[in-house]
Amino acid sequence: MSAAVPVIAIDGPSGSGKGTISRAVARALGWHFLDSGALYRAVGVAALRSGTDLADSKALVELTGKAGIRFEDRLDDEPLILLGGADISAAIRSEEAGMAASKVAAQPDVRAALLARQRGFRQPPGLVADGRDMGTVVFPDAQLKVFLTASAGERARRRHKQLSEKGIDAMLPVLLREIEERDLRDRTRSVAPLVPAGDARIIDSTSLSIDEVVATVLDWAAYLPR
Ligand code: DC
Repeated sequence: MSAAVPVIAIDGPSGSGKGTISRAVARALGWHFLDSGALYRAVGVAALRSGTDLADSKALVELTGKAGIRFEDRLDDEPLILLGGADISAAIRSEEAGMAASKVAAQPDVRAALLARQRGFRQPPGLVADGRDMGTVVFPDAQLKVFLTASAGERARRRHKQLSEKGIDAMLPVLLREIEERDLRDRTRSVAPLVPAGDARIIDSTSLSIDEVVATVLDWAAYLPR
């Protein structure tokens, strides 16, 4: 789609609140939404289920082409994520899928294979894109770039709360260690590392509510050329 279709790129580490915030911003504006992490998670789940080596980039690229990963929009709900026709919307949210996603996302060829697919989400009237490299690699011409952070401790606490609401009993120190491990891998990988774009506006959400962050982003979005 043409570069004239506006994009708001929202990047940041897991637990920064970017998923919730991006969705809320997309809903408020009536724009499309790209959850790029879900795409990497779906590739991770496809690899785990097919027994593909998470370090074999050639096999992973082949898998992204043939696994049949599809996103289906649903009214008033998160998109349905399908793998060869099977609903994997819940499966991609597990810690195991997150770890697998982080590993496949570290492969440059896998990232390249997913690039055109992510850019295809850029459809009128606009797109809110949530990820790690939305503003740096996928949509470098995005009209608004936001980099959302929060301290690792706060992100672990949020994840713990989220899991216990789902009845999952996780240990806070384990979650913290996992978050730190994943951050390190995402920040230090050679391709598309998790860093703010030079022209990104940075929000530290450690002591902000979701509504406060959404209001700030919508305030900035109000000044975008339409
Ligand atoms: O945002 P998330 O936790 O669903 O992302 C899962 C993994 O995918 C995470 O380890 C980082 C990776 N990812 C990425 O490398 N680039 C993106 N644009 C989105 C996610």
